[in-house]
Amino acid sequence: MNQTTRILAIETSCDETAAAVIENGTTILSNVIASQVDLHAQYGGVFPEVASRRHIEVIHPVVTQAMNEAHLGFDDLDCLAVTQGPGLVGSLLVGMNMAKGIALGRNKPLLGINHIEGHIYSLWLSRPSDEIEFPILTLVVSGGHTELYLMTDHGRYQHLGGTLDDAAGEAFDKVGRVLGLPFPGGPAIDKAAKLGNPEAFQFPRAVLEDGFNFSFSGLKTAVLRETQKFKGQLPVNDLAASFQAAVVDVLVTKTERAAAEYGVTAVHLAGGVSANSALRQAMRERLSVPVWYPPPILCTDNAAMIGAAAYWHYQNGRRDPLDIDVNPSADNFW
Ligand code: KG4
Ligand code: ZN
Repeated sequence: MNQTTRILAIETSCDETAAAVIENGTTILSNVIASQVDLHAQYGGVFPEVASRRHIEVIHPVVTQAMNEAHLGFDDLDCLAVTQGPGLVGSLLVGMNMAKGIALGRNKPLLGINHIEGHIYSLWLSRPSDEIEFPILTLVVSGGHTELYLMTDHGRYQHLGGTLDDAAGEAFDKVGRVLGLPFPGGPAIDKAAKLGNPEAFQFPRAVLEDGFNFSFSGLKTAVLRETQKFKGQLPVNDLAASFQAAVVDVLVTKTERAAAEYGVTAVHLAGGVSANSALRQAMRERLSVPVWYPPPILCTDNAAMIGAAAYWHYQNGRRDPLDIDVNPSADNFW
């Protein structure tokens, strides 16, 4: 059986309007991302109303471009996939309605995909998929999530732990603002940290002893307090490097512990923060199992990962009703 499955996936959960066509769950035929970063930079964070309005403006051209770059028409598709949640309700609705419209108009099946599961499947687009062997430990580190999942098969996840307060990316963004760096803080801190001393400040590492949960709000407050001690110019690079070192240390320590406890074949990093250069390097150096992460364009939000996740559901025969709704607070998908 050599059947080709092509899925058009749409992702609008936050501030990227994205559409992609994925073949057989692993090949990217097109991957279009219209970022709204410039629009939100003036507010220092994502402004939900502004985000949904921009999604409405660009969703049609983004989907058209994805289809054109894949050299396909809607009738060539096997399935539509769309991010169902978690995310901003107004933003999710734009993608959901677009996907429903195409599915209904062209009589195609529709699958609602969890955004976090999408991040997990970005690895199936990033390493030779026939080499992937379960069990795998995945650390999803993004603006909204810091979660450790043990994955024992397609669609089978055990949630080992997650953040009790701020997500790692949220901490990067908040500290970036305190340091006067441009939004989003993550890439700006990554860049500034390369010029700073990671040992200049000893920031707390909340390595909670019980299990695999994380906490970053104490670290964020410690950086804020340190900045208040300075009257003149802040040593931005040293503060950025020392803050980043603390985040990385905590993430690597917990991941290392979980990888050893569950005897995984590999560690997968996913989500916006997995683009962080210090995190990637420390994971590679400190872990005894292979560490894989996506190219930067597949770390931050994109629709290709939604199509990759949808493929396995499609193969398992799942088909969602056309009246599915968005699920803005969807934290579980198993
Ligand atoms: O996965 P993503 O695009 O959106 C969510 O699902 O949340 O992640 C966005 C987050 C932001 O907090 C951003 O600051 C962070 O990823 N980020 C980074 C880097 N690039 C993006 N954080 C640290 N270092 C980076 N290089
Ligand atoms: Zn995301």
